[in-house]
Amino acid sequence: MNNFTFYNPTKLIFGKDQVEQLKTLVPQYGKKVLLVYGGGSIKRNGLYDKVTTYLKEIDVELFELAGVEPNPRLTTAEKGIQICKENDIDFILAVGGGSVIDCTKLIAAGSKYDGEAWDLVTRKAFAKEALPFGTVLTLAATGSEMNAGSVITNWETQEKYGWGSPVTFPQFSILDPVNTFTVPKDQTIYGIVDMMSHVFEQYFNNGSNTPLQDRLCESTLITVMEAAPKLLEDLENYELRETILYSGTIALNGMLQMGYNGDWATHNIEHAVSAVYDIPHAGGLAILFPNWMKHNLNVKPSRFAQLAVRVFGVDAAGKSDEEVGLEGIEKLREFWSSIGAPKTLADYDIDDSKVDVMADKAMANGEFGQFNKLNKEDVLAILHASL
Ligand code: NZQ
Ligand code: ZN
Repeated sequence: MNNFTFYNPTKLIFGKDQVEQLKTLVPQYGKKVLLVYGGGSIKRNGLYDKVTTYLKEIDVELFELAGVEPNPRLTTAEKGIQICKENDIDFILAVGGGSVIDCTKLIAAGSKYDGEAWDLVTRKAFAKEALPFGTVLTLAATGSEMNAGSVITNWETQEKYGWGSPVTFPQFSILDPVNTFTVPKDQTIYGIVDMMSHVFEQYFNNGSNTPLQDRLCESTLITVMEAAPKLLEDLENYELRETILYSGTIALNGMLQMGYNGDWATHNIEHAVSAVYDIPHAGGLAILFPNWMKHNLNVKPSRFAQLAVRVFGVDAAGKSDEEVGLEGIEKLREFWSSIGAPKTLADYDIDDSKVDVMADKAMANGEFGQFNKLNKEDVLAILHASL
């Protein structure tokens, strides 16, 4: 293992009816609260009414920023920053999925920064301070509820980058599986693909001697794959929503990633794709990840074989690691396809016309990937295999 320091200050509050805890949590941070949410799902499913009722009971002065888009945009965060600065906001409450939470992270840090918020995303400046914020999560996918990461899109320049700082962890996150009952089937599928991809990004890493980490990753994948098909047939099943919600948090709250650096190359390529085409993040991952795997199979075939045997039940008898690894990759494709995830970029009407543009965007900070460093040729090969 590499030396490591684990730090995660987010208070995780999990379970039925836990949203009521807002009444004791929010007053700890002040009176002026900015409520941030997305395109209206929380109004349709009643969560908005519930949250605002609790906030009224504790007599906070409430401000609102609605309409955070999936793949949240810089311009929306800038609106939030303006509200915070003009009104001396004490605390921000994000109610939504990863996009609402990511946008809130930039609002929180941007409100304490004098320059352009985009500087924080492009890492021209580092966020040293942020307004405190909490979240009520409504979609199991990103892990943003318990990590410091945020992914923001600048639609004018068609750039999408991840950034973060130790000051952008939520103070608390409230996860009630019931609040995910209304997530539609397609978004539920995307969430499943995203959390599995987060595990893969960590499973393929630069570490050595990680037997426990490997098994934590493998059991997370097996758990998600057992629950997913059942959940997609029964979207309001509490236990299945609970399993998937908890898995999504564990997949990206740092618990799996101790003692090594995860690869994260596929996420980087996907962010370049969704910066140009605005497709759902995990739709892109479902297409790209098997192709990243095939492209890198020869880097360390034993790693792919271990995944194939332990997670996908491939019989290794009499076969080389490459053959076993390849069977595992095919089983992953089959699994994602069986739950309804997209298979090729053509599923989103993406052709080869902007492959070079996407590859250049992915290369914006030079070669990348911890399991294997990718150059532009590699990225082009993965994108072409994904068309
Ligand atoms: O906007 P509303 O109306 O709320 O609808 C949303 C949105 O249309 C809807 N939704 C959310 N909860 C719902 C619901 N609909 C019905 N009932 C509910 N309970 O679902 C749609 C997608 O929401 P979004 O927040 O965009 O999804 P997700 O949580 O998958 O977040 C995706 C974003 O997170 C970034 C992605 O790049 C993308 O921009 N990521 C953030 C990460 C992080 N911070 O750690 C890591 C990830 O790898 C990822 O890159
Ligand atoms: Zn992701």
